[in-house]
Amino acid sequence: MIQMAPLIRADLEGLDARDALAPLRERFTLPEGILYLDGNSLGALPKATAARVAQVIEAEWGKDLIKGWRQHGWMALPSRVGEKIARLVGAEPGQVVAVDTTSINLFKLLAAALRLKPGRKTILSEAGNFPTDLYIAQGLAELLGSGYRLRLVEKDEILDAIDGDVAVVSLTHVDFKTAEIHDMAGITAHAQAKGALMLWDLCHSAGAVPVALDRCRADLAVGCGYKYLNGGPGAPAFLYVARRLQEALEQPLTGWLGHADPFAFEPHYRPAAGIARTVCSTPSVLGLAALECGVDAMLAADFAALNAKSTALTELFIRLIEERCSTFGFTLASPREAVRRGSQVSLRHRDGYAIVQALIARGVIGDFRAPDYMRFGFAPVYLRYVDVWDAVEHLRRVMAEAAWQRAEFQSRAAVT
Ligand SMILES: Cc1ncc(COP(=O)(O)O)c(C=O)c1O
Repeated sequence: MIQMAPLIRADLEGLDARDALAPLRERFTLPEGILYLDGNSLGALPKATAARVAQVIEAEWGKDLIKGWRQHGWMALPSRVGEKIARLVGAEPGQVVAVDTTSINLFKLLAAALRLKPGRKTILSEAGNFPTDLYIAQGLAELLGSGYRLRLVEKDEILDAIDGDVAVVSLTHVDFKTAEIHDMAGITAHAQAKGALMLWDLCHSAGAVPVALDRCRADLAVGCGYKYLNGGPGAPAFLYVARRLQEALEQPLTGWLGHADPFAFEPHYRPAAGIARTVCSTPSVLGLAALECGVDAMLAADFAALNAKSTALTELFIRLIEERCSTFGFTLASPREAVRRGSQVSLRHRDGYAIVQALIARGVIGDFRAPDYMRFGFAPVYLRYVDVWDAVEHLRRVMAEAAWQRAEFQSRAAVT
């Protein structure tokens, strides 16, 4: 067996010096003294955002008032930003819009999927899916009544569970707790062979891992704007409907801006052609302006290179944990194999909550998900290799000095 020499910090300084993506970090505001490993929860602030949002407020809204809708293309923002996101998720034009929230988009598309498959009454998902994906499906099934249901299975049971009653399989592509990646092409093909539709939640994928919605022949997808797309807290989300389904798609939130002719103010709803029928309401102009800056920052990078760096950062973190923190009782919760892992590494530890709080107190921001997952996100667009070294070094000290045992790190806050 070949033994690798343990890494030292200077090795990583060398990697940063040779990193062609390093200048991208300059596009972001990163507070001094903070190691930000939580871009999987809330992306960092692009430097362009404050000026752009100020411009929309002061120059567009402030000076042009209602004329802004026409003069500044506000009404087109959902499709303009949607088309940019489409490039990050492997979708040809005309299939993505940036609207509403992930939960609302899930509601619209799950309901639409059930209508596309009359006679089938099951939404199939995995028990470990993100709670909102499950709660929205439960709420929808209860609203519809008459036999509609959400069926939950374990990850390894999904394929076998797709039977003749499943209308739609709803899964999160990159697992929010472990960063494990589902086989999008394989599961989609299997679901469709069984007559079901396939919906993917891309919250932890868009801007983080390669996604090829069109190539995988996905039917429907949703995702948020505030994680790896850096759109800011509560940024608008996005949705995707494959072109082949659009003309038959009926979504239940039939707001006026999904109407074929909104300014005709007709008393009856007629859906707009194409993806526009998935829009419900007046666009969130300020939110979309900020989201566009975040998406532009991602589009400025070569995505293959970004993905290679994301893999290198997560590999490095795992290696350093194994080399420098092996005695502290951490278990790796993310797949060891890089192609099966998103841009995040999760470790499990009985005292994970307090350890994460002790790290935050030292300026290393990760987060915690019950019961015992410590999550560390590695956004390649603004993180350096030395950041990974420094984060592991802080973790080693928190453990070696038992700093996490201090009373102030024990009580749970409402947001973890
Ligand atoms: C997989 C997944 N879906 C959905 C959401 C959140 O949905 P919403 O933007 O509606 O709050 C999250 C948030 O972390 C998520 O991880």
